[in-house]
Amino acid sequence: GGSNHNTIIDDPNHKLLQTNNSGPDPKEKCLPTHSDTTQNIRPVQKAELTRLANTFRQVSRLHWILVEDAAARSELMRTTRKVSVWPVGLVGGRRYERPVVENGKVVGWYTGWRADRPFAIDMAGFAVSLQVILSHPKAVFKRRGSQPGMQESDFLKQITTVEELEPKANNCTKVLVWHTRTEKVNLANEPKYHLDTVNIEV
Ligand SMILES: *[C@@H]1O[C@H](CO)[C@@H](O)[C@H](O)[C@H]1NC(C)=O
Repeated sequence: GGSNHNTIIDDPNHKLLQTNNSGPDPKEKCLPTHSDTTQNIRPVQKAELTRLANTFRQVSRLHWILVEDAAARSELMRTTRKVSVWPVGLVGGRRYERPVVENGKVVGWYTGWRADRPFAIDMAGFAVSLQVILSHPKAVFKRRGSQPGMQESDFLKQITTVEELEPKANNCTKVLVWHTRTEKVNLANEPKYHLDTVNIEV
């Protein structure tokens, strides 16, 4: 104890926190430790671990040792040139939904619901460059007035095309964001047939 820096050690893929807060408050002497050595026990495990990390990063003088094994860090949305897309975990009653990518291009949607939507994607699954927004000043993401599940399509079709989408997260084969809810996770729409072509950890 008594060390004056906060370090979270984790696998480089999740890279949750690496800080050196020196704001010394001598009263804050407690050093909580969370350790997680297992993976994929529960569907929400990785999502909750990520949320826990984002909570812990508010705490100064915290020493958290998290042991995991994983590969290299993934791409980030900041490389978006126009509109980028990626898988979303724990959404639509499934472990994940994702854009289906072939030869680096989006060619369809792995989703349990209305894959015929122009953009069958959750709002957590895309980023738009500010330049695109500025050059489409009339584009709106409607709070009301869209058919159920059509909010994203109604917005995206104003500013881009499916062909133009930039797949992130290793051609949409990694889950890096989750659509969690304050209730027990619903996986009722997980497919029994037409399984995905890739095996993705959530
Ligand atoms: C995505 O797929 C394209 C085409 O197959 C390939 O050239 C590219 O390297 C892939 N990107 C990643 C990050 O795997």
